[in-house]
Amino acid sequence: MHTKSISMPEQRRPETSAAIRLSMIAAVDARMGLSREGQIPWDHPSDRRFFREQTMGQCVLLGRRTFESLGNRVLDGRYCAVLSHRTMALPSGWPPGSVYVAPNIEAAISWCAQHGTNLYIAGGASIYAQTLALADELWLSRIEGDYRCDQFFPEIPKCFRIERAEIRDGFVLEHWRNLSCQQAVTADG
Ligand SMILES: NC(=O)c1ccc[n+]([C@@H]2O[C@H](COP(=O)([O-])OP(=O)(O)OC[C@H]3O[C@@H](n4cnc5c(N)ncnc54)[C@H](OP(=O)(O)O)[C@@H]3O)[C@@H](O)[C@H]2O)c1
Repeated sequence: MHTKSISMPEQRRPETSAAIRLSMIAAVDARMGLSREGQIPWDHPSDRRFFREQTMGQCVLLGRRTFESLGNRVLDGRYCAVLSHRTMALPSGWPPGSVYVAPNIEAAISWCAQHGTNLYIAGGASIYAQTLALADELWLSRIEGDYRCDQFFPEIPKCFRIERAEIRDGFVLEHWRNLSCQQAVTADG
């Protein structure tokens, strides 16, 4: 098991996020590796299918590097908030209004909240590290094997509890819930 700890900055959920569920979705190898040399080094069509089905009709939050790694692939049927400090020219193929380049996490969450969807935080490594403590739930696909990754998923905080693990075609799908976050949302009404 990979033990490198990634520091997670103190984050508070913006008030605008009260109405939407913040879900995190990621695939990791046996050492919690996410990617090697900028690419995901495995190909599991069943996991890609799970990602598509789970996020369909929702808003997906990506870091600029992960968004660029999509190339010409459009996440059809989904809104996409891309975090970047720069001005970006959006690639063609995305329907007008379906992509928003957000200067910070709060702006991304607010944009998604306007669409009345839930938000799926879909990486990469820097985005997971900044937002894991904010997430209500985590969908984690465990891919068997060590793919010698150079980017890793952050340590899962103690307030997360695993609710379910099921064997899928080529991976184990875990569903985690953030208990303290749930309490905070309930307390806010
Ligand atoms: N296994 C999986 O499930 C999975 C899922 C997704 C991605 N990945 C992998 O993760 C890797 C990419 O991760 P990464 O950490 O290198 O890059 P990333 O998180 O995708 O993107 C980082 C970029 O996002 C922007 N950013 C980050 N935090 C921000 C903030 N608070 N406000 C505004 N902008 C912010 C910055 O863009 P600017 O430089 O433009 O300011 C930063 O350079 C790729 O190799 C990808 O394949 C794996």
